[in-house]
Order: sequence, then C-alpha cells, then structure tokens
Amino acid sequence: MTGETTATAVAHVNVALVKYWGKRDAELVIPWTSSLSMTLDAFRTTTTVRFLSAEGEDEVVLDGEPVTGVARQRVNAFLDLVRARAGRVGKALVDSENAVPTGAGLASSSSGFAALALAASSACGLELDATALSRLARRGSGSASRSVFGGFALWHAGHDDKSSYAEPLESKGFDPVMVVALVDTAHKSVNSRDAMRRTVETSPLFQPWAGSAAADLKEMRAAVERADLDAVGEVAERNALGMHATMLAARPAVRYFAPATVAALDAVLALRRAGISAYATMDAGPNVKILCHRADADAVAEAVRAAAGCPTAVAGTGPAARLVTPS
Ligand code: PMV
Repeated sequence: MTGETTATAVAHVNVALVKYWGKRDAELVIPWTSSLSMTLDAFRTTTTVRFLSAEGEDEVVLDGEPVTGVARQRVNAFLDLVRARAGRVGKALVDSENAVPTGAGLASSSSGFAALALAASSACGLELDATALSRLARRGSGSASRSVFGGFALWHAGHDDKSSYAEPLESKGFDPVMVVALVDTAHKSVNSRDAMRRTVETSPLFQPWAGSAAADLKEMRAAVERADLDAVGEVAERNALGMHATMLAARPAVRYFAPATVAALDAVLALRRAGISAYATMDAGPNVKILCHRADADAVAEAVRAAAGCPTAVAGTGPAARLVTPS
C-alpha cells in the first residue's frame, strides 16, 4: 500500500489479576508465566496513525507533547515491525491521547500499545484477526496483548510468537469494579521493563513466584467463570503482593510502595474485617487498585481516600479495542 493512509483506534487499560512479570524472551516478549486481566472502562488511549509516502523519522505526540528519547524509539521500533509486515515504507505521524495518567503504574502501556497496534496495522492495510492483533500488540508491551479484549482476558505465555497471545474469558454475570487509589500519578522511578529485567536476573524470589503462577491462574480462571468475587480477590491480592516481594528481593531492590500505598492496603484489610469484600492489587507503581462489588464502590472509595489521603477513581469492566472515526 502506498500514498497517505490513516486510522484511529481506542483501547482500554487492563489491570492484571494474575500478573505478568518477567520475560523469557525480551525480543519477542514471551513471558515466563500466563496472566489474566480485567479491562477497565474508565481509562483508555485514543491513537491516530498516519502513514506518509515520504520517508523520514516517525513523529510521535502524546497528550499534545512530542515524545522523545527511549519512549519514541520504542514506538519507532514497533512501527518498523508493522511496516515490515505490510511491506510498506514511509514515515508515520502518531498522535495519542491518554485518558489515564501516563507511567504511573496505571498500565497506560497496555492501552497505548493496543491502540497503536490496531491503528497502525489498519492504516497499513493489514487485516488482523483479534489473535493476530493481540500477538502484534504484545511486541509493543506485554500487557497490551490483553487490552485487545474487553471484560476479562487470559494471555497464554506460550513459547514463541505464534503461541503467545491473549483471548477473552467467559465471565457471565461477573460485574465487579476497581477502585483506584491514585497515590502518585507522577512518572515512576523505575519503568516496568527495567524493573522486570532486574527482578528476573537478580531476585532469588522470582522463580518461586513464577512457579506458583500456574496454580494461581487455574484458581483465578475458575473463580472468574463462576463470578466469585471473594475467590478472585484472594488470588489477585496474594499474586500481586508476591510479585512485589520478588521485586523487593531484587538487587538492588525495586520498591514501588509509598507510605500512602501501605495506608491504602491497611484500609483494604479494615474493610474486609468490617465484612466488605475488598481486595487489593498493585502494578509497577505505588497506586493501589481495589476490587469490590459495584454496590460497595462508594464505601470503599471513601475509606481509601480517608486512609491514604489521595484521590480515587472507579472503573468497571471495559470494552475491546476498536477503530473509531476521529473527532
Ligand atoms: O506491559 P508492561 O511491560 O508494561 O508490563 C506490565 C506489568 C504489570 O503491569 C506490572 C503486570 C501486568 O500483568 O500487567
């Protein structure tokens, strides 16, 4: 395909309930373990990709600001992959908007690379089914493989490019919410890519945690399928805290906990003692995401705000990535 072509896509952030942490193959982004996530309605990325006939450096804009350095190289490398697959040359203009604080452990790379994968492949004339799109998005950011789907998604670790992809999970009648404690929305100290590599290479706790992931996944999958919030929450919380234990044991340690993070985790325990089903999960940042019944969302948000002194946002399950007409 030649000439100027353009496409716009929207993808939503997902939060893993059984985490992906650690790559077996960094080039292909093949993880050590399979993971399972919930896609969120409240946080999303909208991305327009325009391919020009002229050659030159790709230009990338995020929330109105030019993206430079390593972040831009990552997008360039991803676009090279798409161009090579489509047999196309010419530079790309990428314009992306995040309805989520970037780089704060709110998994903006999941929605970001899922939206980029869909917009760039469509603009290039590649017609990918959802599995192929998930595999492509994975190359940008592992968690993006799951943001191709709405609701709940399972990313099969696989062992090569073909076998490592996400698929949607049956979850009839399961409609929990996540209360997000926005402890700190500034850019995080260590990005997930570097933190992951350091953990795999140096943490004596990494392999034991990865070894327990298959059992967590099996329990989680069954719990999601029978819409059992308490079972989902219990596995999610232990899996996430275990992941953070692997990081704390890395050399040097990767520590994302802030004082308000601990305060939010304490509030979750207090809520449970008071009989409210509330369970915490955390990613590569200090924010705490609390899974609970929709009917308890206000009470949970209020308790967490009071304990952690930070704002909160509430998200339900969100839709799959899709192409849109630019506004
Ligand atoms: O997709 P990445 O490279 O940003 O890694 C995400 C890792 C976690 O968010 C911490 C866990 C997960 O499964 O999403």
